Amino acid sequence: MNIVVLAGGLSDERDVSLSSGSQIANALISRGHRVLLIDIYIGVADHENFEDAYHDLSISKYEYAVPKEEPDLELLRKKQNYQKSAIGPHVISICQSADFCFLALHGGIGENGKLQALFDIYGVAYSGSGYAGSLLAMDKGLSKQLMAANGVTTPDWIIYYAGDDTSNIPVPCVVKPNDNGSSIGVELVFSHHDLANALKNACKYSKSVLIEQMVEGREFSVGILGEEALPVIEIIPTNGFYDYNNKYQDGVATEITPAAISDELTASLQKEALKVHKILGLSGYSRIDFMVDSHLHIFCIEANTLPGMTPTSLLPKEAKAKGIDYPELCEKLIELSQ
Ligand code: DAL
Ligand code: MG
Repeated sequence: MNIVVLAGGLSDERDVSLSSGSQIANALISRGHRVLLIDIYIGVADHENFEDAYHDLSISKYEYAVPKEEPDLELLRKKQNYQKSAIGPHVISICQSADFCFLALHGGIGENGKLQALFDIYGVAYSGSGYAGSLLAMDKGLSKQLMAANGVTTPDWIIYYAGDDTSNIPVPCVVKPNDNGSSIGVELVFSHHDLANALKNACKYSKSVLIEQMVEGREFSVGILGEEALPVIEIIPTNGFYDYNNKYQDGVATEITPAAISDELTASLQKEALKVHKILGLSGYSRIDFMVDSHLHIFCIEANTLPGMTPTSLLPKEAKAKGIDYPELCEKLIELSQ
């Protein structure tokens, strides 16, 4: 197949996306596909169809590792090769003339449904959920409302906008930008003094902020492939919580797959993950994250419609525990999305 892998862009998860994208591109090349990896921050210059762009721009191996620091988007915006409209007409026409567009984008327009809606209009086949599910899952507050309304336990929460009164907010709590990923801007807060700083920081990344009850316990994640839940993975961060550094620097967090938990808890987590996938109207694949407290109460934290595919990411590890290697997983994600 002629496949475009879209990655990069100017979301806060730009570097994570480039790492996912380069891995996916290499895997698809190893399966015999003709693959073009496009960083939507740079675009494709004057090329208007897949053949021309493939001829000039494709390379046999792509490499990208996530740096320790989050990307400096301001600096990138100032650079000359930044194209103002993230998805220009040339990128769309190249995707239209390809057989399939694999979305390796994380955060922003690639994951919040906007690109999915555009591709529906332009008739581009793409990986993962459609625009509505993408929008619902990217908005943490909205997805929690839907979970709660459908009997899925999720930590209590408040949505905060800059300037709101914070005096009655219970601590400890977790502060998260409402529509971001990779734990960027997320802080664990133990005092009102720290709350103000955490909220100020989170507001840099999102118009609204999710303030969530802190659940003490163990962290698990469950990938969904098609209609099936993958083996459960347990995440044990080295220090603090499963933040950007724990997520993308090799060897910082420990992940155990399948998680060393009872069959009963495994089944409950898988059942709950499938339920959330369905409630939010997701399709193809997703990864659903959970906390489990010492009483074995399960709390769903969030759903990810374009989960990371980097060398340290969870979904590929869960698939591997089921005997599905990385290139095969990529192939399956295409099959499930068509
Ligand atoms: N948002 C990151 C990429 C994840 O969910 O894995
Ligand atoms: Mg997420």
